[in-house]
Amino acid sequence: MLTSLLLPLALATTGAARSLGCGREIPSKFPSAGKSAILHLPGTDREYRLYIPLTYDKNQPTPLYFSFHGATRDMNEEEELSQFSNPFFNKDGIAVYPNSKNGYWLSNPSANISLPNDLDFTNDLLTHMENLLCIDSSRVYSAGKSNGGGFTAVVACNATVGSRFAAFASVSGAYYDTDNIPGVGPCKPAKRKEGYPFIEFHGTGDTTAPIDGNTNSNPKLPVIDFLEGWAERNGCVKNAKWARNETVMEDPLLRHASWDCAGKRGIVQHYRESGNGHCWPSTVGNDDYEEHPLQCPAGKSAFNATEYIFEFFRDYRLRL
Ligand SMILES: *[C@@H]1O[C@H](CO)[C@@H](O)[C@H](O)[C@H]1NC(C)=O
Ligand SMILES: *[C@@H]1O[C@H](CO)[C@@H](O)[C@H](O)[C@H]1NC(C)=O
Ligand SMILES: *[C@@H]1O[C@H](CO)[C@@H](O)[C@H](O)[C@H]1NC(C)=O
Ligand SMILES: *[C@@H]1O[C@H](CO)[C@@H](O)[C@H](O)[C@H]1NC(C)=O
Repeated sequence: MLTSLLLPLALATTGAARSLGCGREIPSKFPSAGKSAILHLPGTDREYRLYIPLTYDKNQPTPLYFSFHGATRDMNEEEELSQFSNPFFNKDGIAVYPNSKNGYWLSNPSANISLPNDLDFTNDLLTHMENLLCIDSSRVYSAGKSNGGGFTAVVACNATVGSRFAAFASVSGAYYDTDNIPGVGPCKPAKRKEGYPFIEFHGTGDTTAPIDGNTNSNPKLPVIDFLEGWAERNGCVKNAKWARNETVMEDPLLRHASWDCAGKRGIVQHYRESGNGHCWPSTVGNDDYEEHPLQCPAGKSAFNATEYIFEFFRDYRLRL
């Protein structure tokens, strides 16, 4: 009696959406709380890395963060790069690092488009997590680097999968033609009141996914066109200019542009890092700085992109 009276109240205060896995013990194949491990998604040929926070409580709905690796990289490198398993940034959430089929995600011309594809994998992996762990389904987020950042947008573009994510982040994303994604078609997110909150980070010295795009055999959109596309999908007019474009730091110059669309302040945001290359900004270094120093000509950054991403995500949840 007491429980049935208290439970709806507790839900009302937190706004959490308890997944089916709430109340279950962590499956024995999964890492224990505070650790990560490589797993295989049953019934598929796909792998992923899973991190469960030390604070995990099987009765407490927990946010879930996806982090997609860049082209030719993998799930293990992405954990090191994005630091989504680091409690300094991720205070209480589960992190998953999906692995691509062949080093590339949908939208990259080299991606394997055959079915089941990366969108099916993402959708099925999310369902698997919700079935086996106590996830707050209103707080599921997607981020990625380079091709993984571009794929985060492909996820947002899909009415089925994208609707299950509350907000999106991309670091040094490679953005291909959103009207004709190979194996997918045009970008067609579902209509929803919450919109599609999107944050993007890009260095002006990026030669892999140039900020102004390129027109070679692997053509990419200028980042500003990509951002204006998301502003439009969030209810701004076509080619809407940012509402604010401010200097965050002088040296090295870091500018922050943000769009307000359909009454949603800062629903699309962009950090423009002068001099940075194709590199995940971090003040202490990461796999990009250690293994790919030529991509990080400016050296370590004066800010942590991961910190800004988690701050951005914190502002959004789905109304389920
Ligand atoms: C492409 O993906 C399908 C389905 O996952 C797989 O069966 C096939 O072997 C892959 N092809 C290549 C060339 O990797
Ligand atoms: C969107 O994702 C769902 C779930 O994986 C998939 O069934 C569907 O075919 C995708 N739609 C498009 C247009 O790719
Ligand atoms: C913000 O302003 C700076 C300086 O005028 C400009 O270089 C930059 O492109 C602007 N940001 C965006 C997103 O266009
Ligand atoms: C960036 O993150 C690291 C932890 O990875 C932390 O030690 C450092 O203080 C952070 N830098 C800033 C400026 O917050």
